[in-house]
Amino acid sequence: MKILSIETSCDETAAAVVENGTKVLSNVIYSQIATHAKTGGVVPEVAAREHVPKILPVIEQALKEAELQWSQIDAIAVTKGPGLLSSLIVGTVAASTLAEIHQKPLIPVNHIEGHIYAPFLEREDPLKFPLLILTVSGGHNEIILMKDHGKYEILGETLDDAAGEAFDKVARILGLGYPGGPEISRVAENGDPTAIDFPRAIPQKNNFDFSFSGLKTAVLYRVQQEKEQSGQLFKQFIADCAASFQEAVCDSLVSKFLNAAKVHKPVELQVTGGVSANKRLREMMLERAKSEDLEIPLNFPQNLAFCTDNAAMIGSAAYFKYQQDPAIVEPLAVPEACFSFESA
Ligand code: KG4
Ligand code: ZN
Repeated sequence: MKILSIETSCDETAAAVVENGTKVLSNVIYSQIATHAKTGGVVPEVAAREHVPKILPVIEQALKEAELQWSQIDAIAVTKGPGLLSSLIVGTVAASTLAEIHQKPLIPVNHIEGHIYAPFLEREDPLKFPLLILTVSGGHNEIILMKDHGKYEILGETLDDAAGEAFDKVARILGLGYPGGPEISRVAENGDPTAIDFPRAIPQKNNFDFSFSGLKTAVLYRVQQEKEQSGQLFKQFIADCAASFQEAVCDSLVSKFLNAAKVHKPVELQVTGGVSANKRLREMMLERAKSEDLEIPLNFPQNLAFCTDNAAMIGSAAYFKYQQDPAIVEPLAVPEACFSFESA
């Protein structure tokens, strides 16, 4: 089954063609980063306006790269939410219209479920259940026990900011560019991760929730103090602060995720979402799993492009959901800014 999928929940205009939920025939992403870098973050109306002229060319490019005609596409999938409402409207209107014109079933997908399915893409051996997943993005941050396709138990989630959001906000505090995650990661290469002892929230071993707003405030106070003492932020201070902050975020994510793995004993661990592209997070996760003798395979999406927002992951989720329940198709995809994935 070949699904053409569309994703416009935030600032990426994306379309892909995925076969049987795993084989990526094309994965086209038009990123708006250059636009949002000017304002240091995404302005929703600006993002929506930029999706409009890009959506059809991106879809056409996805078909072209897959070397397919509309007649060879079996269904259309689209992100229904959660996300920026005005951005979601562009994708859902395009998907609904194309489904009507080409008479294809339309499969609505929850964006977080999309991230959950990113590890299924281009995977040679099929993933088995129960699977423990850490979703770590700009807008969401959960530890999910996936018992089967579409069957999830949320073991923990962020009580305030998601890790990616904290990366973006701290980058702003440090005067770095947007998006903050890759910038912090780059600057941290020259910093000392032990220079500043930032707090780790909710240290209890059996609590799998996260909190990053206290850490963000601690960075803000430390930066204000530095400005008062030194009159400005020197390059080395910025690097040390970025490295120490990154270390604190990664330490919280790794500790909670590995503790959850010890309790729930899944057959495999997967880390997904934009922050799963972070080099230090990957390194720390693998090192600690090894030093703690956790004999459970630990993996990340097969390609860095599957970590951050993309449409291929939406096509994968759509395929498996459709296999479970063909009645999930909708005549029109109506976007929902706060679309809960438990009810998806
Ligand atoms: O999954 P994603 O593309 O969009 C959401 O669904 O939110 O994630 C975007 C987030 C941003 O906060 C960005 O700063 C973060 O992922 N991110 C990273 C890295 N690459 C992207 N954070 C840390 N290190 C990275 N290398
Ligand atoms: Zn996302």
